[in-house]
Amino acid sequence: MSFEQLPDGLGIGVPAPRLSWVLPVGAPAQDAYEIETVRAGRVHRTGRLSGADQVLVPWPGEPLTSREQATVRVRVWAPKEEQPSSWSEPSSVEAGLLDAADWVAVPVGGAWAEDPDSDRRPSRVRKDFAVTTPVERARLYVTAHGLYEAEINGRRVGDDILAPGWTVYPQRLRYRTYDVTDHLGPGTNTIGAWLGDGWYRGRFGFDGGTRNIYGSDLSLVAQLEITHTDGSTTVVATDGTWSAARGPILTSGLYEGETFDARLDDPHWSTPERTDPEPWTAVSVGARDPHTLVAPQGPAVRCTQEIAPVTVTRTADGRHLLDFGQNLVGRLRVTVDGPPGTRITLRHAEVLQGGELATGPLREAHATDVLVLAGDGPRTWEPRFTLHGFRHAEITGWPGDLADGAVTARVHHTDMRRTGWFECSDELVNRLHENVVWSMRGNFVDIPTDCPQRDERLGWTGDIQVFTPTASYLYDCAGMLDSWLTDVGIEQLPDGTVPWYVPVIPGNDVWTPIRPGAAWGDVAALTPWVLYQRFGDLDLLRRHYPTGRAWVDLVERLAGPTRLWDSGFQLGDWLDPAAPPEDPAAGRTDRHLVATAHFARSARHLAWSARELGNDDDARRYAALADEVAAAFRDRYVLPSGRMTSDSPTAYCLAIAFDLLDAPAARTRAGDRLAALVLRDDARIATGFVGTPLICDALTETGHLDVAYRLLTQTECPSWLYTVVQGATTVWERWDSLRPDGTLNPGGMTSFNHYALGAVADWLHRTVGGIAPAAPGYRALTFRPRPGGGITWADTRHETPYGTAALSWKLTADGMTARITVPAGCLGTVDLPGRAPFTLGPGEHVVDSAEPRNAPGPVALAAMAHPRP
Ligand code: BGC
Repeated sequence: MSFEQLPDGLGIGVPAPRLSWVLPVGAPAQDAYEIETVRAGRVHRTGRLSGADQVLVPWPGEPLTSREQATVRVRVWAPKEEQPSSWSEPSSVEAGLLDAADWVAVPVGGAWAEDPDSDRRPSRVRKDFAVTTPVERARLYVTAHGLYEAEINGRRVGDDILAPGWTVYPQRLRYRTYDVTDHLGPGTNTIGAWLGDGWYRGRFGFDGGTRNIYGSDLSLVAQLEITHTDGSTTVVATDGTWSAARGPILTSGLYEGETFDARLDDPHWSTPERTDPEPWTAVSVGARDPHTLVAPQGPAVRCTQEIAPVTVTRTADGRHLLDFGQNLVGRLRVTVDGPPGTRITLRHAEVLQGGELATGPLREAHATDVLVLAGDGPRTWEPRFTLHGFRHAEITGWPGDLADGAVTARVHHTDMRRTGWFECSDELVNRLHENVVWSMRGNFVDIPTDCPQRDERLGWTGDIQVFTPTASYLYDCAGMLDSWLTDVGIEQLPDGTVPWYVPVIPGNDVWTPIRPGAAWGDVAALTPWVLYQRFGDLDLLRRHYPTGRAWVDLVERLAGPTRLWDSGFQLGDWLDPAAPPEDPAAGRTDRHLVATAHFARSARHLAWSARELGNDDDARRYAALADEVAAAFRDRYVLPSGRMTSDSPTAYCLAIAFDLLDAPAARTRAGDRLAALVLRDDARIATGFVGTPLICDALTETGHLDVAYRLLTQTECPSWLYTVVQGATTVWERWDSLRPDGTLNPGGMTSFNHYALGAVADWLHRTVGGIAPAAPGYRALTFRPRPGGGITWADTRHETPYGTAALSWKLTADGMTARITVPAGCLGTVDLPGRAPFTLGPGEHVVDSAEPRNAPGPVALAAMAHPRP
């Protein structure tokens, strides 16, 4: 049982959380269900409720109140069964602070925080308190201006990092709820927190960035609520009675890295037994509107893996160079001993040039951590408030040799549940897929970002717009992206303009003032729809619908009666390999062709969304608009010969994949021309951010599957596998981030960890692997593998909201054999090459392209919730 889109139910911010459950593989479809809730010892059962819904089922009963706990379980009935299943394991949910009036804590920080330019050294805050009555439970509700890590009695609270993450802080600042019952003991206790600059007041953004984006203070907002066994409560909340001191972190920045002087550290600082090298003084007390404090919608950022270096080399001047064999996002943990004052410097980079770290692609991110030793014995240390994108690290000042295990790379990202896997007989394609997974991990750090190594790491709207289909197969990212889309809505300008990246850094915009741009702004209309298809969350679609509509209305006004969006600044098919390194927008496809195609696409998606939401007027209005824009697109950009005004692959991809051509013959001609263009370039890629996610589908849909495979399996530059044969372990920003001569692309933005061009993985999942959604949440799904490219087998698996869907196929002398798992409660349409499609109900099946061996009768689609339009 799960609650909303959250990994667990503690501290939930939704008073009536929707419930989801998964039936075991092979279980018969559910015909009815009963939910039991236990609240304060009171048991409530809904009784048998008819229905097949298992995903995001409404909360049964009164909404939760602040702090209220409930345990919930479910049992289900199969059709025509009198006997229900046994009850599921109980799951618990506990509301956070749902009411602004619940907050008594106020922000507290070092009294010197108002002078940020003369002193960036972060403070710590703490308070002693007494526990005189036995404790039944204790919760810490906590957030900060800046980043925080809380401790109670010397023990870290939680294991997440970079909390509270990045939201549009003035409107939404996330707090987290921790169960700290076990942290407390009788007598005097101490609660304290480290603070760091983070996004709130650190330097962030390109061209030098901006400081104090949201404020100049570093402050903690914490409310520890203890419930005693006798029913009484104690509240320890940040207020003027707390004290502050500067800590051993001398500087800390997401780009800069961290400097830590262990000589200033008292490991007992957050215990009553401390010895305190720094004077602690009264805090300065700030203000925060508690209405802006919100509970998380998705998982926190955590360490998910540790990686040992694969090689350590010593340079002639005594530095150590470490290669972790994998480009990753995280930081180093070191265990080291040495004389007091020893200064150990850790630098990071994605690639080497001439055997040294290539720091050019970092631009103005220094990515340097420094540890100064206290000389008090071995110390294990890891920076707290920073992350770096790196495969290589250079260590200077290490005393003696590096012992095995002395340095570990710790991988960090939003701790989403992995839900998608893919493997096939082509090892290079497998590595490409692995690279996509790694680039998703590296760039899903509370918000979806563009690159982890340089001075950006921004929530670029276009990048996630093209990558969401892939992302939502690989990981359960619904909660994280839902939260981010809320910020897209907040940052949207009153006229409907969607910023290029979200959250916005005021004054640090590349194209000031913020202007509307196709493919980027279209995230507002396209991405909620994709998430709805993948996760089946109609509320999510409803909540973000106004943002998408305001966007489409804006573009409609900009286009005017011609329905052509043919004016203004556009990024077009960004990073088309034909564009010069210094001007990635100057690709071969007319930027306004790209813009009008997206206008039609977003209007169409809005119409679909409106229909799902029961808004028939909007559905009609935007469907008509989409038709008109498509007609205008054809008139303007498709020549009588069938060629397009931009005779470029991306132009044909847009026309085909966005369904902008009315006549089947026109579609065939466009597909033929696209295939011819691809072959003319010997299947080297000729598309950027816009065309790349579409091209394999456009070829497949127009009968040129073989050409799609030629593109996929090309290894010459530019191509996906070129990067793989060059040793890439993540997806690159540019097709030639590393050029064939081994030099770095000289363009100002050259990342080796950028997911956008990895959006091809969605085609791998749907067409090579063969699993695609056919109704929201995969309630209906298709199994339609289309082999090619010399690939002889493929396995793919996806944890849908209804449970596991899997497809393993292998070529045989007679065609293909496929092993298929249809999740319980779902309907699969199986479409194997050379055989008429047929349907399969839930369970595991082995079928082949000649004759099905085990195909139960079709399941009625009428039982499906929200069939796809
Ligand atoms: C980012 C992109 C982004 C682009 C738009 C780049 O610097 O890394 O991925 O979409 O700018 O201009």
